[in-house]
Amino acid sequence: MKKITIAIDGFSSTGKSTLAKQLAKELGYVYVDTGAMYRAVTLFAMQNNFVSETHLDKQGLIDKLSKVQLEFQFNPDLGFAEMYLNGINVENEIRTLEVSRLVSKIAEISQVRSKLVEQQQQMGKNKAIVMDGRDIGTVVFPDAELKIFMTASPETRAKRRYDELLEKGQSVTFADVLQNVKERDHIDTNREDSPLVKADDAIVVDNSALSREEQFELVLNLIKAKLS
Ligand code: DC
Repeated sequence: MKKITIAIDGFSSTGKSTLAKQLAKELGYVYVDTGAMYRAVTLFAMQNNFVSETHLDKQGLIDKLSKVQLEFQFNPDLGFAEMYLNGINVENEIRTLEVSRLVSKIAEISQVRSKLVEQQQQMGKNKAIVMDGRDIGTVVFPDAELKIFMTASPETRAKRRYDELLEKGQSVTFADVLQNVKERDHIDTNREDSPLVKADDAIVVDNSALSREEQFELVLNLIKAKLS
């Protein structure tokens, strides 16, 4: 059977990872959450005092980048791969609002981006991959056979992220989550290196009014058309 590369880009909390996981499972493809990689580098920067709400030691982080080892390990109980930073499972630590607040600062650094992009391209060299992020269809895999650009209103997205964080027992307010969503949209779309833009050949999926199942069916049909 023909194997393809599926690139899913879009704003934060549009449900990219939910869709990507469903597709990977259905097709028997590898799923890669590139946001987790930027989040893990951010955690490393926090642990080493290179970043906080009030400062960024960009050069300090760049000098230590060779010490950042990222790896995904599949967890059969969860059905997806978890992020490891220097051999330690950081799947929970990277999902906090604190990391969400700082990650855009780290994702702006070109040296960080080129290190991660190289690793992502390596993971996708045999195709049969679903990768989600911000620059997958534009920078990582410009030749991907299927590119999806996901979007939804900021309020819809903040509500989803808020519910997720509450479910994980984190104490956050809806207003803070909404502000974070809007701030990240702004930084992600305005940064100089690899800003979030729709690739010319990407298909836009606005899921504000779509259920998970409807969205899955819609994209699965697009894939079937590519495979036939
Ligand atoms: O998908 P996410 O919210 O977990 O991503 C976290 C941050 O990482 C997001 O604010 C932007 C950045 N990111 C990026 O710049 N490029 C990617 N390919 C993936 C994520």
